[in-house]
Amino acid sequence: MKNKVAVVTGANSGLGFETAKALATQGARVILLSRSADKGQEALDKIFAATQNDQLELLTVDLASQASIRETGKLILDKHPVIDTLVNNAGTWISQHSLTEDGVETMFAVNHLAYVLMSHLLYPAIRKAEDGRIVCVASDSHFQFKINYADLNLTNKYHGLRAYAQSKGANVMFVSELHKRKQEENVSSYAIQPGLVKTDIGVKRTNWLHALAWKIRRSGGVSPAEGALCQIFCASAPEAKGQSGLYWDKCKPKPSAKYTYIEEDRAQLWEQCLEMCKIDSFF
Ligand SMILES: NC(=O)c1ccc[n+]([C@@H]2O[C@H](COP(=O)([O-])OP(=O)(O)OC[C@H]3O[C@@H](n4cnc5c(N)ncnc54)[C@H](OP(=O)(O)O)[C@@H]3O)[C@@H](O)[C@H]2O)c1
Repeated sequence: MKNKVAVVTGANSGLGFETAKALATQGARVILLSRSADKGQEALDKIFAATQNDQLELLTVDLASQASIRETGKLILDKHPVIDTLVNNAGTWISQHSLTEDGVETMFAVNHLAYVLMSHLLYPAIRKAEDGRIVCVASDSHFQFKINYADLNLTNKYHGLRAYAQSKGANVMFVSELHKRKQEENVSSYAIQPGLVKTDIGVKRTNWLHALAWKIRRSGGVSPAEGALCQIFCASAPEAKGQSGLYWDKCKPKPSAKYTYIEEDRAQLWEQCLEMCKIDSFF
């Protein structure tokens, strides 16, 4: 990854931190995106101490706000005309139904629309890379529920599990649709699943019952360093070059849920998401 530029969202903790660290270890110029400047700086300092890579940059972004994503995307583009890898990693798990300032259910906004909008904003720089990659961190939880196309905000039928699964299914469908629609051979898209990983995702914005359930569940998981291997592989390994539009687990492609292959639904979701992000044309 020497002389390559990588952008990692949610780089201050868990899988994003390990991904940023691994890419920095490989010599990349890594742009760490974090919601909190303090947490981001702490992560950057730790990665610098571990790698001595002096090409680390930190930017803050609130991925629940499309205005914030647009502002940060512009800052990245102004400085980096070529981006080799974007890792859409940031994610959240919220017990209570809530809407963002853009009027979108928060998990759908952060876990999915932020992936779409950031990929769109950085695409002009990614297409200039010799081997441009967009990695989207999804999850096997997408097998549990289908997507409610008629009510993506889940206004009438909210449950955290349903909202999380829906956002992750949308990640998988976005990656395959992006692969289908793009014109450039040199841009590849990847949806990955990290497996069950011991991170704090299930305790940050959950009620006590969901937090307890997550603490019990994650005890059977792997470390963030191990869980991040698949996204690091898709973001950087020469073996993954050009293997676009697929769903990956343990550094190998595997089938995703059946509903993610329905072409009309993928196209419909693509259009719905572009409209929700106020994107006229993705490319
Ligand atoms: N852990 C698992 O078992 C597992 C399994 C499958 C998939 N995943 C996926 O892996 C990805 C990383 O999650 P993780 O497990 O590593 O959890 P994590 O440690 O909580 O990391 C999530 C990251 O996303 C950031 N984030 C959340 N909301 C944000 C917002 N509005 N704006 C900016 N950043 C925001 C968090 O920032 P803060 O620290 O400020 O909240 C954090 O940096 C997620 O997409 C998750 O869905 C995880």
